[in-house]
Amino acid sequence: MVVSTPNGIEHPPLLVLLSDGELHSGEWLAKELRQTRAAVWKGVQRLRAAGIEVNALARRGYRLANRVELLDARRIRAELTEECRAHLHHLELLFEVDSTNTRLLSSPPPAPGTADVCVSELQYAGRGRLGRRWIAPFGGGIALSLGWTCSDVVRTLPALSLGVGVAVSRALTRAGAQGISLKWPNDIWFRDRKVGGVLIELRAESGGPAHVVIGVGINVSLPEQARREIEAGGVAVAAAADACATAPSRNLVAGAILDELLSMLVRYERFGFSAFRDEWTALDGLKDRPALVTVGGTSIFGVARGVDSDGALLLETKERLQRFVSGEASLRLSVGDA
Ligand code: BTN
Repeated sequence: MVVSTPNGIEHPPLLVLLSDGELHSGEWLAKELRQTRAAVWKGVQRLRAAGIEVNALARRGYRLANRVELLDARRIRAELTEECRAHLHHLELLFEVDSTNTRLLSSPPPAPGTADVCVSELQYAGRGRLGRRWIAPFGGGIALSLGWTCSDVVRTLPALSLGVGVAVSRALTRAGAQGISLKWPNDIWFRDRKVGGVLIELRAESGGPAHVVIGVGINVSLPEQARREIEAGGVAVAAAADACATAPSRNLVAGAILDELLSMLVRYERFGFSAFRDEWTALDGLKDRPALVTVGGTSIFGVARGVDSDGALLLETKERLQRFVSGEASLRLSVGDA
């Protein structure tokens, strides 16, 4: 059973009762939910099947393995300035979805200058760049997608992901993070470890405006086991909480990301990447460091030398300064270190 709650999201009521991280007896839960204890047990199994860790203590009750701050539309909206609110057409909060990007891509595009936004507690088929999976533990991350109608894709798209990186880094700083950097083209870093990523997808009719979906995934806090699981996939991972004195609120981070994305998009449409290049450069985590750039099946070593006015990565190789408009860059200890 799910209920509509005033926070704008349909959370399973059992999860709402357990979200304080305290131990609750089956009897108390059954009474609150007006269910049998067997139904409570089934509810626990459903939460577990969704990947939520619930501990059952013999004859004492149930509790979540980790206390969780559930998403709340009011708290997310509270982070938006008046101006940004005017650009927000629809904010949808879900408990579970395959992928927030997929959901928005299959919806009609919003009117120009306005955004449709989807945020979900859980994604069971979250997608990363280059066909990878995006994994986030329940309650520890943010999965947010924003749909926007773009009139000039050729001008806008190439460096948009860099503008998104600037917006996300501003949002994390607003939430108390220090030392966030960006790795071309669109990873959010803390101490050379990945805190988040950006997946931009597009649906365009020829000649007409394009429906652009900007997906942002952020690790807000990561329990040890989740870190190990993600790192098993070969990614050095970090959480926004590692960059903050105290763990930031997920609602605050989600609201700040939304606010900064909206204000970035409005400015980006007028001025393009040039309005963000200096800020991107100041956040560039690869600048003047040995890097390996992979495009298609080919890898090229060099020293990263920032980005040009189109957002292309500049790599100084032994032969010359090379320019990359797409690809994947990674940090190397020294030039030639594969
Ligand atoms: C990357 O590979 O670094 C990009 C990760 C992007 C993940 C986000 S989570 C919200 C949105 N929905 C998805 O399925 N993917 C993006």
